[in-house]
Amino acid sequence: MCYKTAMTTLTISKAGALKNKPAIKDLGFGKYFTDHMFLLNYTEGQGWHSPRITPYEPLMIEPGASVLHYGQALFEGMKSFRQINGDTVLFRPEFNAKRLQDGAERLCMEAPPTEMMLHGIRELVKVDQDWVPANQGASLYIRPTLIGTESFLGVRPSSEYLFFAICSPVASYYAEGADPIRIWVEDTYVRAARGGLGATKAGANYAASLKAALVAKKKGYAQVLWQDVTHKFIEEVGTMNVFFVFDDEIVTPALNGSILPGGVRDCVITLLKHFGLKITERELSMNEVVESHKTGRLKEVFGTGTAAVISPVGELASPQFNLKINNGERGPVATRLYDEITGIQYGEKPDLFNWVQKI
Ligand code: COI
Repeated sequence: MCYKTAMTTLTISKAGALKNKPAIKDLGFGKYFTDHMFLLNYTEGQGWHSPRITPYEPLMIEPGASVLHYGQALFEGMKSFRQINGDTVLFRPEFNAKRLQDGAERLCMEAPPTEMMLHGIRELVKVDQDWVPANQGASLYIRPTLIGTESFLGVRPSSEYLFFAICSPVASYYAEGADPIRIWVEDTYVRAARGGLGATKAGANYAASLKAALVAKKKGYAQVLWQDVTHKFIEEVGTMNVFFVFDDEIVTPALNGSILPGGVRDCVITLLKHFGLKITERELSMNEVVESHKTGRLKEVFGTGTAAVISPVGELASPQFNLKINNGERGPVATRLYDEITGIQYGEKPDLFNWVQKI
């Protein structure tokens, strides 16, 4: 089957046999993949070409492909929801397309034009739409990925790229679900440094994060609070952006070049302003957080991300302190934001900011 687009032709080859779909209670996060995937190639001199939907299958790339040696790899995280009226929607796909393009610029990679990539993703979700869960709290997570595929061992940007998108039906990212997680305040490792790749969704940032997360897990913590290279200023929490609710001000670290400009971070800032609450993007030190906990000003802490949406933090621990936040319970600001964002995603609340697109 072929669909004509303004730019080129998308071919669709359907899988012969479809997989059994897992039960919602078994979904977890990222364990299962749907029946199909979308691919697109870039060749120097030719540009982006050969958009195709194929059965989900292993990729064929050369062992010399630059991604395998020098890590030219970027990804995105998007979600598709089944709304209460039965519509299948995507949440802010242009945001992800733009962030991929920005990241590609930093990593000296070519990125597909927005409409070419989003057309393929929309058609992929249509082909696999029986995989979009109908249950609240579950969704279809879409993983667009861009890699350098030229087989060449000199250190320079690849002249060939592969863009692909795969889909995974998901429920909660953390075992805790929407309950508060315990967080270790990391004082040895850093996720990213200014001038590096921290503001992009480069696979390398996640590789850099694994060691600290593993050490924290052994201590009984779900993830770490990342600080800057001086270990004074707060940057992110786990794979999420982070917000602190003080008495009269909600603070999130300002984007400084080493912090990912998260999609849900952006939604939360928009919603807090819409609610009439004071939200400030600024530098925030761990000292200020410890002091505000002492004086009772610190009310809530929560992480924001596509995978977890809003994840409350119930405890911040280090060798020097152990801060219980809101008695280890989910607070009103995190709850209101979670209800508003998921309400929009599932079509229960008005989409005031045009975040949802029917496919
Ligand atoms: C997100 O929440 O947006 C993420 O990218 C998390 C992912 C790395 C699992």
